[in-house]
Amino acid sequence: MSFELDQEQELAVARLDRATAGRLWSLARPVAGRLALIVLMEIVLTVSIVVRPWFLRQVIDHAQERAGDVIWIASLMCGLGITWLLRFGGGGVTQWLAGTIALRVLGDLRARLHNHVLQLSVSYFDRTRVGRIVARIDRDVEALEPALVNLAPALLGTLLRCLAAGYLIWHIDSNLLFYLCPLLPLLLLAMVLFKRIGATVWGRVAECKSRVTAHLCETITGVRVIQQCAAENTNSNRYIKLLSDLDGSAIKASWAWGWFAPFTFALNIFGICALLVAGGRHLALGELSLGQISQCIFYVFLFLGPLQELGDLYERLATAVAAAQRVFLLLDTQAQIIDRPGVRDLSAVQGTVTFESVRFSYHPNREILHGIDLKICAGETVALVGPTGHGKSTLMQLLCRFYDPDSGKVSIDGYDLRDVSMRSLRQQISVVLQDNVLFSGTIRDNLRCAKPDSSDLELNQAVIALGADEILLRLPQGLETLVGPAGTALSLGQRQMVCLVRAFLADPKVLVLDEATSAIDLHSEGRIQRALKRLCYGRTAIIVAHRLATIRHANRIVVIREGQIAEQGHHEELMKLGKIYAELYQAAVEAAR
Ligand SMILES: Nc1ncnc2c1ncn2[C@@H]1O[C@H](COP(=O)(O)OP(=O)(O)O)[C@@H](O)[C@H]1O
Ligand SMILES: [Mg+2]
Repeated sequence: MSFELDQEQELAVARLDRATAGRLWSLARPVAGRLALIVLMEIVLTVSIVVRPWFLRQVIDHAQERAGDVIWIASLMCGLGITWLLRFGGGGVTQWLAGTIALRVLGDLRARLHNHVLQLSVSYFDRTRVGRIVARIDRDVEALEPALVNLAPALLGTLLRCLAAGYLIWHIDSNLLFYLCPLLPLLLLAMVLFKRIGATVWGRVAECKSRVTAHLCETITGVRVIQQCAAENTNSNRYIKLLSDLDGSAIKASWAWGWFAPFTFALNIFGICALLVAGGRHLALGELSLGQISQCIFYVFLFLGPLQELGDLYERLATAVAAAQRVFLLLDTQAQIIDRPGVRDLSAVQGTVTFESVRFSYHPNREILHGIDLKICAGETVALVGPTGHGKSTLMQLLCRFYDPDSGKVSIDGYDLRDVSMRSLRQQISVVLQDNVLFSGTIRDNLRCAKPDSSDLELNQAVIALGADEILLRLPQGLETLVGPAGTALSLGQRQMVCLVRAFLADPKVLVLDEATSAIDLHSEGRIQRALKRLCYGRTAIIVAHRLATIRHANRIVVIREGQIAEQGHHEELMKLGKIYAELYQAAVEAAR
């Protein structure tokens, strides 16, 4: 967590470097043609803007002498009309083009991020908050839009207007431009200074926003726990704190940034004053006409104005760059567990599972499994029992290769899991956990996940074979019942039942049930036992269970304690041994009384 925060803080102050710019460009490359069209439109727009003052000059300088010249007046009006038409038409087309580009580029990027996240290893989700990932795929991508689409044309437009206006002033009277020149270094200096400040302050605002989103996601997904623990106030306070951090950083940013506009405006005014003084003198000397001076005043605005706009552009760029860095960071996150080159597919396995001296830790200094040696023969049903938090689920996660052991080896039929493709491995193993998430849709949809081509009849038969009809078919709409978001419209027991049937349909060679029947109450333990027996028949099964009555049919019971195998054998053997298992069993019997 702290690692993540450090990194985010570093990102918050990140600036646009060449690598980021290159990657942004690589995203925009597929739409380069349309971007070029936008650039062309910007040039047309700039021309339409800079020719307008010329019409003004004509009116001021020649209106008196040509008052009766209808053709002259009409052509001026037409010319001016065309510039406005170009301005509006061109503006509309540019906006539309930019919009379509944004949809395409951002849509592609979102899809790419989504696929990327699906490939990441489980350990990434252990250390990254859901909200952060969502914020990146959703909001940060949105924030990229200006950098990818609007920015280049807008920058070009401002630059073109500035250059064109400068050139035209120079064309009318080269001396006038000379008077304006001292303002340029001042403007540049201000820009460099504000750019520095901007990168820091806007980056920080973006980071604060990201934290707010992360918090919101966590609150909403965990609302039940929050209400149950009566932690609403703590949670609200934390949210308020995050919001006030966001406000604080935004206020600081606007305060620091807010001075740029007035500063450049003041420079504009200085520019106009300089022009009026110098132009007035030239007018008095008869070197310039009144129309030319008016034209120049417009050009001063066109000359210095774009520089002011750069401020706004820069603000958007800074936000976008910070967002881009986050997005790239996510794209750069490599799955830690990936197929080695040249792995083979695991096909038609017998189902012998072996753990050899397996050691494992989630965090470097805290080993969870201290050398587990366990062989489970094909077709055997093994129960893992032991106190909670001692590594049973961890062992099962290693079997699914959600993590790799630090040392030692996990294998199926003698194949090291690291030498087979993950896809084929997971086709051979089904896992049912205590709290499974179902996907929105009906129960039938969820069952069909395991075996897409199964008929309704097959699904019903599977339900009946496991004795789940009592629970599932009795629901008002039977298998057509909607499970609600993440399955929350079903009870935990019903959800577990759906998952058991799903595992049954998947018909894997190796089945792992991790506390998978903890919430199912089938009148008598006998029914659960029968269902489990049916489920485990003909495959290797590993059952992690607290309710010891549910594992009576196991061929072997393995007791895990403090990351090691403490005892193993049949129920009777272990009872005779009179140690951990016997104690657990005794405690269970007493609790049942
Ligand atoms: N994703 C994780 N990251 C860090 N530690 C974990 C993680 N999952 C489990 N642990 C720790 O590993 C230990 C064993 O957990 P687990 O295998 O789930 O126990 P159990 O025997 O109850 O299934 C616990 O101390 C737990 O705190
Ligand atoms: Mg567990």
